[in-house]
Amino acid sequence: MKGTYRESPGDRHVELRRALLESGRTHPAPAPAPLRGRAAAPEAAAAAALAERLDPYGFAVTDLDRPMDNAEFLAFGRVLGTAQPELSPDVRARVEDRVILNLRSGAAPTDDPAVQPFAANALTLHSESSGAPVRAQPRHIVLMCVSPGGDGRSAQTVAVPMTGVHAALPAPARDVLVRLRYDRPGEVPTVLRHEAGRPVFSVRDFLGAPLAWSCDGPSGTGPATVDNALRELYAAMYGGEARGFTWIPGRVVVIDNTRHFHGRTRASGAAAGTVARHLKRLRIAA
Ligand SMILES: [Fe+2]
Repeated sequence: MKGTYRESPGDRHVELRRALLESGRTHPAPAPAPLRGRAAAPEAAAAAALAERLDPYGFAVTDLDRPMDNAEFLAFGRVLGTAQPELSPDVRARVEDRVILNLRSGAAPTDDPAVQPFAANALTLHSESSGAPVRAQPRHIVLMCVSPGGDGRSAQTVAVPMTGVHAALPAPARDVLVRLRYDRPGEVPTVLRHEAGRPVFSVRDFLGAPLAWSCDGPSGTGPATVDNALRELYAAMYGGEARGFTWIPGRVVVIDNTRHFHGRTRASGAAAGTVARHLKRLRIAA
């Protein structure tokens, strides 16, 4: 069965999304407290982040004495795995050393999805590369702050744990989501799967854009049931526990893409136009 989900203004997640990403609220920092490290010792910092934070919590925050240079940043990433090349033509001008993406969010708000990561817009919750085969999806997203833009609380990176989203979903919705995929050519993962006993989601909130889907069962399921399961999922993503990361120079946040959704609040004040926030990103393969 195939269909297309289109968001309508009355969907419950629309207001929840506004409250999370557009309201100007600062989201609380997650426990435990950041690790500390030295930019000149990137391997030691990454090894500590992996063992003491990523394995137990699915994310890591490390405050370094200064931002790493590109060679140090690459060395940090190598401890976590293999960095994926940034091949999209949309971002080519912002890429260094094939794998480092410069995220400068100083541009004015835009409707162009290709430009939104670099503008003052909010970024809707998603798992990275949600339409790619599982083996091509990054396991970790590594973000390093070069310059926070403003006071560092605007344009917060937010992370939402997938276990909480899964727990908030009614059983019939889960039953649909494990059989549901984007309707695209090639090998597309199901929206919900389980790995090592944990729920893993591959999905993005496409905002107003239509989501063409394909679903095999369960028997008796119609398109309205699938659309409702997606509504339940988005409401659980935006209605659950969100963790907010503020930025200071030298702060490195690693997010396990199989354990958290991520997104970004709208920029305001200086960060929306006059002082560019500058982060560098690596995507680390599974
Ligand atoms: Fe992302």
